[in-house]
Amino acid sequence: MKITIAGTGYVGLVTAVCLAEKGHFVTCVDVDEKKVETLRKNISPIYEPGLQELMVKNEHRLTYTTDYKKAYSDADVIFIGVGTPEQEDGTANLSFVRAVARQIAENVTRDCVVVVKSTVPIGTNDEVEDYIKTNLKKSGVKISVASNPEFLAQGNAVKDTLHAKRIVLGVEDDFAKETLLALYEPFELPMVVMNRRSAEMTNSATNDFLDLKISYINEIANLCELVGANIKDVTKGMSLDPRIGDKFLHAGIGYGGSCFPKDTKALYHLAQNKYGYEMKTIKAAIDVNALQKTKLFYEARKSLGRFDGKNVTVLGLTFKPNTDDLREAPSLDLIKLLEKDGAIIHAYDPVGMNNFKKTGLEVKLYETAQKAIEQSEIVFVLTEWEEIAEADYQNKIVYDGRNCVKNKKGIIKYIPIGNYK
Ligand SMILES: NC(=O)c1ccc[n+]([C@@H]2O[C@H](COP(=O)([O-])OP(=O)(O)OC[C@H]3O[C@@H](n4cnc5c(N)ncnc54)[C@H](O)[C@@H]3O)[C@@H](O)[C@H]2O)c1
Repeated sequence: MKITIAGTGYVGLVTAVCLAEKGHFVTCVDVDEKKVETLRKNISPIYEPGLQELMVKNEHRLTYTTDYKKAYSDADVIFIGVGTPEQEDGTANLSFVRAVARQIAENVTRDCVVVVKSTVPIGTNDEVEDYIKTNLKKSGVKISVASNPEFLAQGNAVKDTLHAKRIVLGVEDDFAKETLLALYEPFELPMVVMNRRSAEMTNSATNDFLDLKISYINEIANLCELVGANIKDVTKGMSLDPRIGDKFLHAGIGYGGSCFPKDTKALYHLAQNKYGYEMKTIKAAIDVNALQKTKLFYEARKSLGRFDGKNVTVLGLTFKPNTDDLREAPSLDLIKLLEKDGAIIHAYDPVGMNNFKKTGLEVKLYETAQKAIEQSEIVFVLTEWEEIAEADYQNKIVYDGRNCVKNKKGIIKYIPIGNYK
């Protein structure tokens, strides 16, 4: 099948490469010329384990372009995988999705299925279909819009796509259904077919459930500190219960990334503003997470006093390991508070430092975790990269936001989340 994908970010590029791996011919469209130039050299602009190798392996089936007119004119399936970032009021910004819908309407010349893969508010697929059908330049072309939400996790995106637990297809007609079933057949994965609004809802409900689980265990960890329980034992005792499981049950300094924070807010606002229904559980997850991100700063400030002129090391800048993505990373909240308090900040991240430089925050960066640790007596551990977990923290006061430090020999004071021992 001839496939075009709009957007070559974490979702678009990984989807493209995995579809090519399964034998499809894929054209990747992006508005970012620099990105497309890099892709044309067969270099992945993002860090994602296994992606670079698969790009090279399937280069004969992958094309990268900014020429959307040509790319949309002749495709069996067009995926929309552009960003839907959070707006100031918490709602999703759909301007990129709408721009692609407009470009498709103006350029498509033959029957095709348009698949919305971006995470969008419920009802957006209907809007996209209405728009394209009303504004189609070429008459007589059959267009069907389908929802195919993405559940991949950054850092494991290639594996998550090739071995997805399920593929959700939200369709309103047989044309979209048959086309997408055929497209995904080579993956040999469970497929769940439903209507478009249900697929959009499955996307939000899944992400937000995981956020709830994280915020819940973080609150339990906070209470462990007050009552003298140990979160490590508590989560072990909980996770062996198959009704609960061990995933997303690791207490820490809160969730970040480009999806979870914005998706909870988008669902909360959609329910509240469009349907007059307040989702109290989602609100709780959002509030708990906001507090959790700054918890270690305030704890340190309480016991160590103002940071004015003090050297502080921050380890792990990305929102989680195995990604270079800094969006909504807890490190940014902490560093801003430390900066405001007058700290001299030293930091290290295995792959996130190039992106970090773009933030303009005043931080001295080092080549290794160990070098960064040497600069200060106070160390904040914010991402559980292996290099960081295994570093030597002798003679340091360590605030471990991920309960990951392995070697505690010689540490002056170790402060994990939830009395983790
Ligand atoms: N990142 C994740 O882990 C993840 C997981 C599941 C779902 N999602 C959802 O998938 C969507 C994409 O997320 P992402 O992280 O890949 O975003 P991203 O910001 O990494 O990439 C988006 C890309 O779209 C490009 N773009 C913008 N306008 C365009 C246009 N008109 N035509 C072509 N390209 C255009 C941008 O230049 C950028 O390269 C979002 O809705 C997100 O919520 C993301």
